Amino acid sequence: MNKKFNEPMFKARELKDKVIAVTGGGSGLGKSMTRYFLQLGAKVVITSRNLDKLINTAGELEKETGGKILPVKCDVRNYDEVETMLQHTLDAFGCVDGLLNNAAGNFISPTERLSAHAFDTVIDIVLKGSKNCTLAFGKHWIKAKQEKATVLNIVTTYAFTGSAYVVPSATAKAGVLAMTRSLAVEWAKYGIRMNAIAPGPFPTKGAWDRLLPGDLKDKFDMTKKVPLGRVGNHQELANLAAYLMSDFSAYINGEVITIDGGEWLKGAGEFNMLEQIPQQLWDKLEQMIRSKK
Ligand code: HXC
Ligand code: NAP
Repeated sequence: MNKKFNEPMFKARELKDKVIAVTGGGSGLGKSMTRYFLQLGAKVVITSRNLDKLINTAGELEKETGGKILPVKCDVRNYDEVETMLQHTLDAFGCVDGLLNNAAGNFISPTERLSAHAFDTVIDIVLKGSKNCTLAFGKHWIKAKQEKATVLNIVTTYAFTGSAYVVPSATAKAGVLAMTRSLAVEWAKYGIRMNAIAPGPFPTKGAWDRLLPGDLKDKFDMTKKVPLGRVGNHQELANLAAYLMSDFSAYINGEVITIDGGEWLKGAGEFNMLEQIPQQLWDKLEQMIRSKK
């Protein structure tokens, strides 16, 4: 039977007994990945700045999946709050196996319009927040001599290409990617794996409100940027995240996996603009080229 990309990938409870902390787990992609982790039997701690939102999400997902989920208020910019969140996790579940650094802040703006504080705000959520969580959880795992643990960082493709108009985010995500690759080597000896996912466009309210406000979403149809002609589906990202959190990916370490339908490469290839040439013109073009011999 043919399976679809938007269906759950695993058929068994492959994350049974794992405890995973998801930053920014109350909304958007963090919520979708949390839902799937719960369906696969994991216990999940979701964190963000908004406790009401987290409690609502926890209630909804608990009802939907029958899983165990703990909402904990935590601003990832603040190391003390991160340590407290880790302690709540350990108090509730006794251990923790995975950290998903998913929380982010971002908005489009010409860089020269940004105040120093605006630039810092995005860097602090994305880079400092991911650093804070990684450092606190890593120290814990190393001290506890835990046999294995996994950190998964959500970056984006402009972590390696850069992007105009989202410069604080690009700067911060590039830092997260560098941290991923650096610690993948340094902490492998402690059994800690460190990987990243670079998603292309996956519609969420949080991202679309800040990156495509008003009629920008109609003016810049994201599906047209993607060779596969569509945006991402949350389940296919959740499938990849679950795989990278699971023991099936035990030999994948220091990798960044792009899931964008070929979007960033379309922008990169020197002659990709030839996509616009109608098929019937190719005979003529070929003749012109051959005649130059
Ligand atoms: C210029 C802005 C601004 C804007 C805020 N600021 N919005 N400057 N243009 N649109 C400035 C403020 O004036 C202030 O500077 C500073 O930024 C901090 O703003 P606050 O509102 O006080 O910050 P805070 O309440 O901490 O909110 C953080 C936030 C907000 C990033 C500004 O948008 C947020 O909470 N975002 C969380 C969710 C999110 O961003 N999700 C999208 C992720 S999408 P001054 O100098 O005035 O004090 C993503 C996708 C990537 O990452 C790839 C897509 C393909
Ligand atoms: P989202 O719903 O806005 O998610 C961002 C989450 O981060 C929110 O739940 C938010 O919760 C939390 N957050 C923000 N600041 C925080 C802080 N200081 N401390 C703790 N939590 C904080 O947007 P999304 O689209 O799902 O984005 C999720 C991740 O995917 C991000 O890393 C983003 O960069 C990445 N990504 C998204 C896309 C896309 O197309 N959607 C593409 C590439 C990469 P609170 O506001 O309650 O704190």
